[in-house]
Amino acid sequence: MTSLIYPTTNLARTEELNIVRGEGIYVFDAGGRRYLEGLAGLWCSALGYGNRELIEAIREQLETLSYSHMFGGRTHQVGMDLAERLSAMLPIPEAKIFLANSGSEANDSMMKMLRYWANVSGRPERKKIIAFERSYHGVTLASAALTGLPVMHEHFDIPARELGIIRAATPHYYHGHREGEGESEAEFVGRLIADVRGLIEREGPETIAAFIAEPIGGAAGVVVAPDGYFPALCRLLEDHGILFWADEVICGFGRTGNAFGSTTVGARPQLMSLAKQMSSAYVPISAAAIPGSMYEALVEPSRKAGIFGHGFTYSGHPVASAAALKAMEIYERDGLFAHAAAVGEHMQRRLREFRDHPLVGEVRGRGLIGAVELVAGKAGRKPFPDGRAGAIAVQCCREQGLLIRAVAGSSIAFCPPLIISEAQIDEMIECFDRALAEATDAIHREMPELLQ
Ligand SMILES: Cc1ncc(COP(=O)(O)O)c(C=O)c1O
Repeated sequence: MTSLIYPTTNLARTEELNIVRGEGIYVFDAGGRRYLEGLAGLWCSALGYGNRELIEAIREQLETLSYSHMFGGRTHQVGMDLAERLSAMLPIPEAKIFLANSGSEANDSMMKMLRYWANVSGRPERKKIIAFERSYHGVTLASAALTGLPVMHEHFDIPARELGIIRAATPHYYHGHREGEGESEAEFVGRLIADVRGLIEREGPETIAAFIAEPIGGAAGVVVAPDGYFPALCRLLEDHGILFWADEVICGFGRTGNAFGSTTVGARPQLMSLAKQMSSAYVPISAAAIPGSMYEALVEPSRKAGIFGHGFTYSGHPVASAAALKAMEIYERDGLFAHAAAVGEHMQRRLREFRDHPLVGEVRGRGLIGAVELVAGKAGRKPFPDGRAGAIAVQCCREQGLLIRAVAGSSIAFCPPLIISEAQIDEMIECFDRALAEATDAIHREMPELLQ
């Protein structure tokens, strides 16, 4: 073993797969074996590997200005151009853009801006944030506090309570509806919205700054809320002066077949976090976007203090900015969001072919993001109690040449690069079909006591 401490890894099982190069939607391991990148790396490699235009834009920027910061009045054209392009794209009035390096940093920065804003606008009590149970918003202390996955909190003393994080139920009909009462999707939505209203009233609307949510919850298991949930939620929040904060780190830039996942689910965000596909993961970059009116409130106090005391050495890194700008140009010129919508429909259709499999509880998704959830009991929607079934399926996929991840235990997530073709989707589905047959045998062999 080398000296690395691996991120989000079982530290007793490291260095199992050494990837050495990539080409299009495929990567190759040290033994020369080819794999289809079924999760676009970590939901991020939109344009796949070896995109010559992106590489050339990055090389040119490295040669012109490999680094310059943005502190204390300094700027550079490529960073300004990126901010203008994003501001014009986002559904936020006169959006102002804070640049960072990762989704966690974007969310952490947003929390700090919200707290600063509350303090300088005479409403210091308005700092609580509502987040879904089982949500994923990152791993810095503050963004991990937003994250609702217990494994990201255990042993870390994450200051969720101290930061005023409160939880709402994940809008996942399959697991959350009351089957005995025959609860319909519309009734489920009505109940969850009533619960959020109750939560807001109990906490006091004047104490709540924002509600953060992914339009489609990736690490939560690719949770797609029933139609009507997000429009109703946004209406409720607007009635109480609470901002809707869309974490678009996975859904942003075409993943769901629209520029932003918020459009796909009918949400009206006032705040947005962006990362991952923002530069197609060629260089790390992220953004926290706020409305112009909120930005205005930050100007005077920073003038008095001399600075707005938040920023990273690499905020607006010119090479990352150049990569993001070029990615935006390619997305638009090549119509990649519409492509994702078209081939996404094909992927959703093909994934739904697994619905009748005895171990498949639910197939869900929109555009080019989807999941096949494996369950121990199909009739009773009984989940597997731990991640073993998912891990077996992932291993079988790898043996078939498909790299994929299990999320929320045993939901097998699909999120291929946006450039994938219909024929390559068929190839991915056929790999999964063979892997699922093998995984089914292995699960029957290794954990028969769990199956119903
Ligand atoms: C929705 C969402 N928000 C935030 C993050 C954190 O991003 P990063 O890993 O770049 O810090 C992720 C990462 O997967 C994510 O999926």
